[in-house]
Amino acid sequence: MERLEVQTESGFYPILAAEGALALPAVRRELRERLADRDCFVITDDTVGPLYLAPLVRVVKEVGARSCATTAFPAGEASKTLATLGDLCRRAVENGLDRQALFIALGGGVVGDLTGFAAATYMRGVAYIQVPTTLLAMVDSSVGGKTAVDLPEGKNLVGAFHQPELVLAQLNWLRTLPPRQVRCGVAEVIKYGVILDPEFFAYLEASMPELLVLDATVCRQVVLQSCRLKAQVVAQDENESKGIREILNFGHTFGHAVEALGGYSTVTHGEAVAVGMLMAAGLSERLGLAPEGTAARLEALIRAAGLPVRAQPPGATPDAILEGMSRDKKVKHGQLRLVLVRDIGVAQVVECNDRELLLEVIGRYCGQP
Ligand code: NAD
Ligand code: GLY
Repeated sequence: MERLEVQTESGFYPILAAEGALALPAVRRELRERLADRDCFVITDDTVGPLYLAPLVRVVKEVGARSCATTAFPAGEASKTLATLGDLCRRAVENGLDRQALFIALGGGVVGDLTGFAAATYMRGVAYIQVPTTLLAMVDSSVGGKTAVDLPEGKNLVGAFHQPELVLAQLNWLRTLPPRQVRCGVAEVIKYGVILDPEFFAYLEASMPELLVLDATVCRQVVLQSCRLKAQVVAQDENESKGIREILNFGHTFGHAVEALGGYSTVTHGEAVAVGMLMAAGLSERLGLAPEGTAARLEALIRAAGLPVRAQPPGATPDAILEGMSRDKKVKHGQLRLVLVRDIGVAQVVECNDRELLLEVIGRYCGQP
């Protein structure tokens, strides 16, 4: 079993990742330490529930939890709302859960973000653990304590920082993930290479076919290196207040606007981030920040991952995307703050309000390729 550690100002927690993790004695020990004699509440969605809820609940009981309530909501981004949050909290009350309860997120980033936010707010805060089941959740959303729900006006607009007590990735559970969802996780993996680690980027260029079929060795290496990189950033800037963690939003300011234009249904988060990263790389070059060829190299890798290289939802015009970006959380005093790159592996936050330039670059990545 692989074990990484996330050290933040508010505490410390391990990330455990392995094929068949739940069966390993070392994992059982870590679970027993946190679950024994506690009332647990497993939250999942109606796709993951039929696949993995039963084996997880069995283990929760075997390691000595006092009780284990469960609930499942409809899968997908459309559930990441205040209404679902209310339902989850009411289910917790119905099950008699108090402040000592432990919430468990079993699923992708939607389940993780919702469960984390429910844990951050239920009775003013209870503990939770993350059991991510998508590649995206294993490499990104389960680590770092960002929790949120969406509003019709934009993504993740209501949320909190609340770190989990443990992240547990059972790598073989990825095998049931539809290929489209695998590719979405790959978008966030590519992000780490672009902003932090040129060697990892080169590794991805060499290993993309194996990663897409979830080759066990490549998959383990990718999950671990992604979590390692994310943990390093989160350790330095837990609440994104020091200008360091912002770099993890590379491609996201553009991407969130594209995702919203797709109604959170036609374009997935990962697909939107892929196009957003290209827009950010294109702008980096256009501003003379990154060497020529940076965006083309990124585009080649994104294409190899089978991810979109153009924003295609109907209505995704440069004007509409820029309008959506102005509602981003990274806007400070009306100034748009964008994560750009100086080279593959080196990120920099830049304020950019040159409307004409932004429209020109966004336009390059809209429509048919
Ligand atoms: P998701 O949770 O919607 O999962 C995608 C789909 O895969 C769902 O239908 C789900 O039911 C299904 N699924 C999950 N695991 C499966 C498995 N093992 N086998 C078969 N099907 C499975 O989406 P996601 O891509 O995991 O996460 C996207 C969300 O994460 C977005 O809301 C995004 O904003 C958020 N996010 C949060 C952070 C953070 O730091 N908190 C970071 C990145 C993304
Ligand atoms: N996914 C961005 C962050 O965790 O900061």
